[in-house]
Amino acid sequence: MSEQTPTVTMEKIVSLARRRGFVFPSSEIYGGLSGCWDYGPLGIELKRNVKQAWWSAMVQERDDMVGIETSILMHPKVWMASGHLKSFTDPLVECKSCHQRFRADHLAENKCPACGGELTAERQFNLMFKTFIGPVEDGSNTIYLRPETAQGMFVNFDNVLQTTRRKLPFGIAQQGKSFRNEITTGNFIFRSREFEQMEMEYFVKPGTDEKWFEYWLNERINWYVKHGIKREHLSVLEHEKAKLAHYAKRVCDITFLYPMGWEEIEGLASRTDYDLKQHAAASGKVLDYYDDETKEHYVPYVIEPAVGVDRSLLAFMCDAYTEEPDKEETRIVMRFHPSLAPVKVAILPLSKKENLSNFARDIYKNLRTTLTTQYDDTQSIGRRYRRQDEIGTPYCVTVDFQSLEDNRVTVRERDLMLQIRIPVAELKKTIEAKMAGEDFLKLPPGGEVVQAKPKEA
Ligand code: GAP
Repeated sequence: MSEQTPTVTMEKIVSLARRRGFVFPSSEIYGGLSGCWDYGPLGIELKRNVKQAWWSAMVQERDDMVGIETSILMHPKVWMASGHLKSFTDPLVECKSCHQRFRADHLAENKCPACGGELTAERQFNLMFKTFIGPVEDGSNTIYLRPETAQGMFVNFDNVLQTTRRKLPFGIAQQGKSFRNEITTGNFIFRSREFEQMEMEYFVKPGTDEKWFEYWLNERINWYVKHGIKREHLSVLEHEKAKLAHYAKRVCDITFLYPMGWEEIEGLASRTDYDLKQHAAASGKVLDYYDDETKEHYVPYVIEPAVGVDRSLLAFMCDAYTEEPDKEETRIVMRFHPSLAPVKVAILPLSKKENLSNFARDIYKNLRTTLTTQYDDTQSIGRRYRRQDEIGTPYCVTVDFQSLEDNRVTVRERDLMLQIRIPVAELKKTIEAKMAGEDFLKLPPGGEVVQAKPKEA
């Protein structure tokens, strides 16, 4: 793993997220709830875009994948069979003086990091949240909030196989909330108690698993880079064979250079046939595959790329964040990939006069049917540009009095602040083409270049 210095501090990301309405502490008016976060108006757009980008790459654009959505509450036997009841634990220690609790494997020294006090011996703490199903709160009704979405795919393996008639290799993908009663949370949305996962179980013929592991490792790294993560901010951490969980043949973390250092953004595991065999044994149902070609029944092996939505969103925010000198001030720009940007276009009329407002609002109404669009007619145009830069809007459209006569508007792009003036009739098509990667200075009929070079600060 290369030694590098993070390019942005967590304080800057948290401050921007709060200031612009990306992420708020959960239940903030009551002092917040540890390890829980709320997504604001821009945060939810960004999150939906991250999830959509993953879904497109993992399901929509592939022949060998289907999606699924399973319930958060599952039969308690699921967690018995999967091994979570017994071993989904972290080592917990408590300070004998101040009684704070810590994850033993996160401590550099064997003393309390808060007060220096002596620590108790380690004990294993199960991370699953418990609740009761039905009106009687007794042990026989205990169920769990799922700590991963993966088991929903394993227990539905046969349902999917029978209803979709898939041939190996094929995958089942799912996105959804997971819950872990983490001993310590922190680093903003990096480690929380309620979070969202995007997981995929790829079922393969035993013996082909190593090839598919390499394939998915590459695919997943390429997905991050395609959507704006710098390649040099990603690394692969191979888990030591001797320390692998009992079911795993190989595990790699894809790590990202977060402000607090290199940390896991995604896990890739070769889970063998462990989960399907465990559920088959515990449920008494057959969970295998009949291979038409070899005329044999076998239990597929599984390759699993598993990523946290919140953790990847944080990484996209970190790598998008840039500061540039701008006269006496600093221009903060979130250089989100256009597909992830929470707002794609801002319509900025240069006056609030009725005739211009009506004209600009018609453009706004037309664009927002397919592109997330904001309308802003407050403050100076410079301030409005800065606001859009700070939330990462790739295109700003200014509407001026000349527009009423020539039916053209000026489009300014975020990164180099280049500008073109184009007919309103070409606007939507042009923005969609630029978002798909067309050179910004390529003009539609009737267009002209207004600003061809980056503006001097
Ligand atoms: N089914 C395998 C599994 O759940 P994991 O490595 O425990 O594997 C997968 O979790 C991903 O989920 C992690 O790489 C991380 O992105 C995310 N994740 C796990 N725990 C999290 C937490 N407490 N807060 C936020 N994201 C978390």
